[in-house]
Amino acid sequence: MSKCILAYSGGLDTSVAIQWIAENYDVEIIALAVDVGEEKNYEGIRQKAIDVGAVESLVVDAKQEFFDDFLARAIGVNLMYEHRYPAFTALARPLLAKTQVEVAHHYDAEFVAHGCTGKGNDQVRFEVTYAALDASLKVIAPAREWGMTREEAIEYAQERGIPVPVDKESPYSVDTNLWGRSVECGLIEDPSREPPEDAWEWTKSIADALEDPTCVEIGFEQGVPVTLDGDRMAGPELISRLNTLGGENAVGRIDMLENRLVGIKSRELYEAPAATILLAAHRDMESMTLDRETMHFKPYLELRYAELVYYGLWYTPLREAIDAFIAETQKRVCGQVTIKLHKGTCQPVARQSDRSLYQYELATYAEGDVFDQSASPGFIHIWGLPARVAAEVDRATKKEQTN
Ligand code: ARG
Repeated sequence: MSKCILAYSGGLDTSVAIQWIAENYDVEIIALAVDVGEEKNYEGIRQKAIDVGAVESLVVDAKQEFFDDFLARAIGVNLMYEHRYPAFTALARPLLAKTQVEVAHHYDAEFVAHGCTGKGNDQVRFEVTYAALDASLKVIAPAREWGMTREEAIEYAQERGIPVPVDKESPYSVDTNLWGRSVECGLIEDPSREPPEDAWEWTKSIADALEDPTCVEIGFEQGVPVTLDGDRMAGPELISRLNTLGGENAVGRIDMLENRLVGIKSRELYEAPAATILLAAHRDMESMTLDRETMHFKPYLELRYAELVYYGLWYTPLREAIDAFIAETQKRVCGQVTIKLHKGTCQPVARQSDRSLYQYELATYAEGDVFDQSASPGFIHIWGLPARVAAEVDRATKKEQTN
């Protein structure tokens, strides 16, 4: 029989998907859960897939790969979609889909499946990745094909004895990985209302945050965070500690309207304490180690990169080309930044680097100043030349017109 590799999370949609595929397609289902840092009971999830009808159920730990190949690059480009969303779901999807394609090859499977609806970005990210890595794979998208509402999917599950983690009272749709947690559906769909406090899990409210500030020092090597308060640790560990520290200080809540690729505007809640802290620290490190021209040019590419990631275009030549540029800039981004976390704020307060371009003797207004101020008039004379000429011509034209 043909095989189908299903991207499986253990949640409502993908559990229902196992049953639904079995009822509607003549295939054996292999469930694949990829651990990108959502803390959950993977053994329980693995078993649940078998109970629901999968012939095999796999769990792949991809946390380190997620950090090395995706998050380290996201930090290098200060990745934020529409300036606010650190794009963690968008970053994880290509890795999930790539892992699925590898498993499909291993099992000689003909089909791949995902649990995304037809209204979102995630279907695009999965399927563009499948197409880029193996266009011969056939796609099954149950949630897009079945046309059930959330309530109907819950009923469908209950009728068939599929355990569901949500009930109709708390119908949030949540996606979580190392880099953040997203919340959609339910009361959140009314953007005119402040989100209910129970939507937040990783972050305290400002009222409940720690009274005293927390300072944390982050060390970068070539743009990648490698130490926390001087201790070297693996990326996933460093991120998970910062999620805790940030969360206690109410850092990392994001409430935004976002433009989906399929044209819909949606209201999204995100919690991303570590991303908020690390991007603030990384930007600060860049301000010390990058020359002005590189620093002013890089954001153009950052904007484009954020779109590419959000639009599901990870496995494309443009993404690789921008990465090559970014990697070149990051060679110099080395040093330590101290961040102060307090009552929802996250501020760089001190930094130092062996590659620092900050020179005290040039900057100081005190004793020891080596900047040659006598060179400035000549510089200004030539720098201002185009402005002077244009203004003179404008004045002459105006005079002529009034005469
Ligand atoms: N709006 C975000 C994005 O498009 C988050 C999506 C979360 N996905 C989900 N299936 N709950 O990247």
